[in-house]
Amino acid sequence: MILQAKSERSFYHMNGEVAPSQVCQGMACFVARRSDPDRWRRASMQQQTIYCLGKCYEAPASNEEDSLPVVSVSAPEAVVLGNLEPYCALHLARNRTPEELIGEIEISGLRGRGGAGFPAGKKWRAVALQNSIEKFVVANADEGDPGAYVDRYILEANPHRLLEGMIIAARAVGATRGYIYLRKEYPRAHSALLNALEHIQRDPQLRFPIDIVMGQGSYVCGEETAMLNSMEGRRPEPRLRPPYPTEHGLYGRPTLVNNVETLASIPWIVLHGGNAYSRLGFSSSRGTKVVSLNSLFERPGLYEVEFGIPVRHIVEDLGGGLKTGRMKGVVIGGPLAGIIPPHLLDTPFGFDELRAIGASVGHGGVIAFDEHTSIAQLVHHVFAFGAFESCGKCTPCRNGSSKIHRLFDQILEEGLVPSHMRAECLEILNAMEKTSFCGHGVGLAEFAGSAWKYYHEELDRCFA
Ligand SMILES: Cc1cc2nc3c(=O)[nH]c(=O)nc-3n(C[C@H](O)[C@H](O)[C@H](O)COP(=O)(O)O)c2cc1C
Ligand code: SF4
Repeated sequence: MILQAKSERSFYHMNGEVAPSQVCQGMACFVARRSDPDRWRRASMQQQTIYCLGKCYEAPASNEEDSLPVVSVSAPEAVVLGNLEPYCALHLARNRTPEELIGEIEISGLRGRGGAGFPAGKKWRAVALQNSIEKFVVANADEGDPGAYVDRYILEANPHRLLEGMIIAARAVGATRGYIYLRKEYPRAHSALLNALEHIQRDPQLRFPIDIVMGQGSYVCGEETAMLNSMEGRRPEPRLRPPYPTEHGLYGRPTLVNNVETLASIPWIVLHGGNAYSRLGFSSSRGTKVVSLNSLFERPGLYEVEFGIPVRHIVEDLGGGLKTGRMKGVVIGGPLAGIIPPHLLDTPFGFDELRAIGASVGHGGVIAFDEHTSIAQLVHHVFAFGAFESCGKCTPCRNGSSKIHRLFDQILEEGLVPSHMRAECLEILNAMEKTSFCGHGVGLAEFAGSAWKYYHEELDRCFA
């Protein structure tokens, strides 16, 4: 059965289908706009705004092409992108107790791949501990972060891996039903999932009720509590926490929400054991992560890497550096994370290590940009996105994101604005960072903060 995010239709950006000629306006397409100026011009003229089609490897992208990215494994083990016998791990899991399964995930050290990096085993245990006649597993397939396209790849090329991860997770936490919240911008993923679901419903060994809920084009719906509201047909604003979804989630029932890549890692961990997984990676970042490199790289595509390698290895050795010019910076983990300037490229790729320099692993999108993009243009682009996607629930984000967007509009038009606007701008960003209700407003402010920290000379030149 396909459910739809029902009411509150005016909240969503996409009530219709994604037009075949639709051009993506996401950050990867923005920084690549010079490679196809005509297509980028079309983007600014089209009626519908779409911030990511998940095709950052061929940006500026449109919905016309039907291609998958080049994929490559550079980690010692191919946890996510490798071939596994489908449902072999599920058969093994059926002979393990829920406690044993949760124990393996805890030992593995797997952290959520959706952005927040929360320990997966801890979340599973929290749901398993709840007494309830109904529990749910929800796969977050909203993949809204411009720059990331690993979930799209898994959904289109290997949907059974996700389903297998979900069914194992359901067994471990005692869930009775699963849902996949899928972004509408991924129509091919939708078809692939429908086929895979039909397959498991036909096989009595695999049968488990899983529904697809289609998103309607809202970035904030990727935030897990906004997503649950959307699924219930409510206004999809983030919920106050606690209570957490693990106790009070979908329809008030305990709910495990995990990202697609997190769930797609589960079959490998069940087959090889939590210890084998935790031997990969370093410090508090265990295992592997798939990073998505944008089209400005010599070799764009998906790379499965082991945590702990320097970011430089990703951008220079795997990506081959930029084909368009000098690399000015890299945005890893989407527009709610900081920019990494060239002098910090030796930072190890890990949750805490990137956090320490104001950046983030996020969902693993790696968008490099060159000297043809000014920092003011980049901040303008990110805040146009931020203001467009703000759900409006809290004042700092609703008003702050559009004020900063308008200020940078003025900067780009006039080249220079009065100096008092600098202090005003920093004050707004400070309020956004300290008082926004969810990660959207906070992340936008952090993005601007890192731009100011690492490119202050360039930004300061915008104020008289
Ligand atoms: C504004 C915002 C957007 C988000 N979008 C996504 C998304 O598209 N996909 C995703 O998996 N997580 C997204 N998240 C994170 C989710 O809230 C949640 O942490 C995640 O789905 C949990 O799964 P994980 O523990 O496996 O990462 C977003 C968070 C915020 C604040
Ligand atoms: S921070 Fe932005 S997206 Fe989050 S609740 Fe506030 S207005 Fe909505």
